Amino acid sequence: MTARINNETDLAGMRAAGRAASSVLEMIGEHVQPGITTDELNQICHDYIVDELDCIPAPLNYGGGGGQMPFPKSICTSVNHVVCHGIPSPSKKLKNGDAINIDITVIKDGYHGDTSKMFFAGEASVMAKRLSKITQECMYKGIEQVRPGARLGDIGYAIQRHAENNHFSVVREFCGHGIAKVFHDDPQVLHYGRPGTGVVLEEGMSFTIEPMINAGKRQIKILPDQWTAVTKDHKLSAQWEHTLMVTADGFEIFTLRAEENFG
Ligand code: MF3
Ligand code: CO
Ligand code: CO
Repeated sequence: MTARINNETDLAGMRAAGRAASSVLEMIGEHVQPGITTDELNQICHDYIVDELDCIPAPLNYGGGGGQMPFPKSICTSVNHVVCHGIPSPSKKLKNGDAINIDITVIKDGYHGDTSKMFFAGEASVMAKRLSKITQECMYKGIEQVRPGARLGDIGYAIQRHAENNHFSVVREFCGHGIAKVFHDDPQVLHYGRPGTGVVLEEGMSFTIEPMINAGKRQIKILPDQWTAVTKDHKLSAQWEHTLMVTADGFEIFTLRAEENFG
């Protein structure tokens, strides 16, 4: 089923879920410092999501179909060459210069808000900052395409063009997704493609745009933990994600943060 916002109840639900998810990213920023472990970040976010927001952390025990291990933690923490789905661990201590994507998905009254951004522990390299900035711009350029009548291929093309113009590459194995009452629904929102192709966007569709952009080659591999995706060449990867819907004249971002000059 394609995720759709059909009425005022759905709209209010998605706004509340999106606001809750974005508030976790606003809260966790000051904790991202050299010396903290990704498991400690997970614990802080978990407690905030459950105790302060009265939400459910959607990643916890997610998946597990087809013999896969369910995701064991409440957030994803993807450091440096980890592309996505990094599992928080007490043995992963951040060091000065590390770049980390923190991906938060909460369920509030049955609705999902899914968002991620890049943080740096201490002082990041010029390359890490550039990759992160271009990846955020890729997400915004994808979002700018969203309006009734546009095609999913327009989104993918805008993202791919900006990444490749900057000599970076687009990860193909993961995509944005429809989202509302279901975490990962149709449509699949590819972060590459050709303009004027693919599903035609209609008012009410809700989905994520979450490009993963690599500094080197686009190829990835999955570690034996069955979740952690890393770049094959061990070069840096970055990701940013928002949850949004198609409105009559464009888009509404449900997971926008106060710091953003967009949307
Ligand atoms: N939040 C991720 C996404 O953007 C999915 C994480 S699934 C998990 O779709 F199980 F790894 F947490
Ligand atoms: Co997502
Ligand atoms: Co996410």
